[in-house]
Amino acid sequence: MLKLALTKGRIEEKSIEKLALCGYNVEELSDKGRKLLFLCPHPEAETLQIVLAKANDVITYVEHGTCDIGIVGRDTIMEMGGDFYELLDLGFGKCRFALAGLKGKQFYKGFGHRIIATKYPNVTNRYFEAQDTECEIVKIDGSVELAPVLGLADAIVDIVETGSTLKENGLEIYEEIAPISARLIVNNASLKMKNESVGDFIDRLSQVIG
Ligand code: PRP
Repeated sequence: MLKLALTKGRIEEKSIEKLALCGYNVEELSDKGRKLLFLCPHPEAETLQIVLAKANDVITYVEHGTCDIGIVGRDTIMEMGGDFYELLDLGFGKCRFALAGLKGKQFYKGFGHRIIATKYPNVTNRYFEAQDTECEIVKIDGSVELAPVLGLADAIVDIVETGSTLKENGLEIYEEIAPISARLIVNNASLKMKNESVGDFIDRLSQVIG
């Protein structure tokens, strides 16, 4: 049996849709309640056991070999890094990392102390280091857009999908940092030990992601 760690939320539905297109029976997932483990049989392939987890934990499960494969956003991969193979860009869950702040404010004007609020301190740190710009990073866990509105930060680094959250809170993008989409990651040992079933899974998935 192959174990797949799937990120809850944003990319969950699209992932399940693709698995169904691959021929997996995803019935258990359609009425999941509070369950976190699911079996998805396939008429010709190994059964898939799906583990629903938070994005950071998907990486932890795959890195430790608790799960063979994982589906997770590139945002989490860029933030956490880790020792695993990133083998497919799944083409959905598209958004981007952006630096944003109050509309009309000139972020780079002057030499003052800049405070950036973000859920992604590593991505933010690398971005400003590459530009040789000093800033103080404040880690926020959600609704980062509040930080510049409430005066906690001069700007935020966050994911932007439709742009509605920025717009509805009077913010705008200052700079785009990196494109993001859902990725398929594979545990190092599983790729060797379960080469055939992992390869088979990747082939099936590749055919339905277009
Ligand atoms: C993400 C992100 C933005 C929003 C962007 O938050 O942090 O707040 O989505 O999407 P949009 O451009 O389509 O408006 P998420 O919904 O994951 O919730 P969180 O802020 O609680 O982490």
